[in-house]
Amino acid sequence: MTCGAGDNGPMGGCDEARSTGTTDGCRAVTDSGGARADGGDATTDGVDVVSCARCPRLSESRSRIVNGVGPDDADLLFVGEAPGATEDERGEPFVGRSGDVLDDALRDAGLARADVRITNCVRCRPPDNRDPTGEELDNCRGHLGHELEAVDPELVVTLGKVPSEHLLGRSVAVTSEAGDAADVRVGDQSYRAVISVHPAATLYDGSQRETFVETVARAADLAGIGDDDGSGGQSSLDAF
Ligand code: URA
Repeated sequence: MTCGAGDNGPMGGCDEARSTGTTDGCRAVTDSGGARADGGDATTDGVDVVSCARCPRLSESRSRIVNGVGPDDADLLFVGEAPGATEDERGEPFVGRSGDVLDDALRDAGLARADVRITNCVRCRPPDNRDPTGEELDNCRGHLGHELEAVDPELVVTLGKVPSEHLLGRSVAVTSEAGDAADVRVGDQSYRAVISVHPAATLYDGSQRETFVETVARAADLAGIGDDDGSGGQSSLDAF
């Protein structure tokens, strides 16, 4: 990977240097031993995307690539849409107001943020908080597929309309379908998933808060990590 124009964010330098904390430019990463080429236009290090130029417009406007966080063997994995301004600034998914809502719901379910994995369909912030385009979702799908395959969660939670429709491959009415289970296929693998409203929806419409909290608690139970699922740590997905 070379440090081309597409790798320069508004802060200057290349994403490789920012993501790894190296100050040595792109070569430090390609020489680090961890990074590997992924299709010629991206490099990855484990499940982290270190550099990617698949979406030229996002590559130009992002401050950094926002990779998933949480245990790499998490039973429960939340998939959001794309980083917002705070996530783009801090380099972690769901650390703005939506993240506070998610953290609260996890706490209500007896979980901490560190117990679950949190990621997005698209790893670079779309400018002006617009939705990611279909092309951007498709460009990033392989990165999500690698992460899902490596983590192999018991259950995936799709947070909001964009991730739900992207992963289920159909139109989804998230408010009425929240809490419903479905199978999603990403790459060569299938995963059990639960549809959820987006945490941000609860900020605009307080009546969605209960739906969101109940969905997170149900997902925790189904994944076998809820505080009162009574399964002794075993997933209760078989009950479906
Ligand atoms: N909304 C998302 O969908 N993802 C984030 O990381 C933050 C807000």
